Amino acid sequence: MEYKYNSEDVLWAKKIADRLNEKEKIVAERNEKKIPYLTKNGIFDDWSDKEHVCWWTNGFYGGMLWQLYHGYKEDIYKKNAKWIEEKLDENLMNYMEMDHDSGFKWLLTSVASYKISGDKESKNRSMLAAGNLAGRINKEAGLIRAWNDEDTGDTAGWAIIDCMMNLPLLYWASETTKDPRFCHIAKCHADHAIKAFVREDGSVNHIVCFDPQTGKIIKSLGGQGMKEGSSWTRGQSWALYGFTLSYIHTGDRKYLETAKKVAEYVISQIPEDGIVPVDFCQEKECDWEDDTASAIFACGLLELEKHVSQDEKEKYHKVAMLLLKTLTEKRCNWNEDTDYLLEKCSAAYNDENHNFTIIYGDYYYIEAIFKLAGKELFLW
Ligand code: GLY
Repeated sequence: MEYKYNSEDVLWAKKIADRLNEKEKIVAERNEKKIPYLTKNGIFDDWSDKEHVCWWTNGFYGGMLWQLYHGYKEDIYKKNAKWIEEKLDENLMNYMEMDHDSGFKWLLTSVASYKISGDKESKNRSMLAAGNLAGRINKEAGLIRAWNDEDTGDTAGWAIIDCMMNLPLLYWASETTKDPRFCHIAKCHADHAIKAFVREDGSVNHIVCFDPQTGKIIKSLGGQGMKEGSSWTRGQSWALYGFTLSYIHTGDRKYLETAKKVAEYVISQIPEDGIVPVDFCQEKECDWEDDTASAIFACGLLELEKHVSQDEKEKYHKVAMLLLKTLTEKRCNWNEDTDYLLEKCSAAYNDENHNFTIIYGDYYYIEAIFKLAGKELFLW
């Protein structure tokens, strides 16, 4: 049975979705043949050249276009999305640049295309990406390796919390081919990630280093967060949404319990004004924000509320709405002369720059609004 969100919120989201479509159609028309990551003077940059085509964020604009095509059927969205999907073949054929982020790249491009059109080439790309991701499991650690580095092998035993969001590519592969091996590998990673990443209070580590020979965990690293032991908000959001997705695909309640544990911690940390910092442990005076984490939390909470008790449902929904209304009213740029939506995102706490635009913030914002509005193409 289809889940029903609060009807007033659905009406609100439908209006926002229409506004998004109006702006994004204009944006798509002036940005053919581009894979954007950031903006310069309000206009998308382009990461489709040889040097940048393997960047981990290169699926998100394609995903946005497929969501918009699914919702509004404008041909320009499909045309631009297909171009991005084909462009990413340069990455698919570059083994050393294939990493744990294949879900972000191919679920949002080739799997989306396959779901919409049944295109066999799109299915082939998606299966190649899934096969590569499955092959990254380190059997001794039970975890999927993050990145490659052939020269030193220093990161041979690194796994990161973000990978939870890539597991749905493996679930999709098993569901599509009726071959459970992909699902076994996803579950193996998720099971070990509970122990390796999730702390007692529901906050999570970003990077975990294990001995690639024995699988023994050596230490955790702060990664893109403030420092080791701190709470990088985007990492929290990958965990919240990622464990929820593993529950949706497997029905295994330990993933649901883990998602709830992370959600309870997150809810206890989100400030009353609904503005999400880069790290929950940063100084209160620091004004660095991460709208991407906010949008991902909203997506995760809107999915999680479908599977919990009435009290929890209301609590999760209320926080998701606080985040989405704050983004819509205070952080979304509705000007049709600019390409971006969310204004204050961050890549990593220890970077020099903060409070700028990032494409995956816009992707998750659209996904959350479309979820509520009943217009989402479910891609995870
Ligand atoms: N996957 C890297 C990040 O979230 O920035």
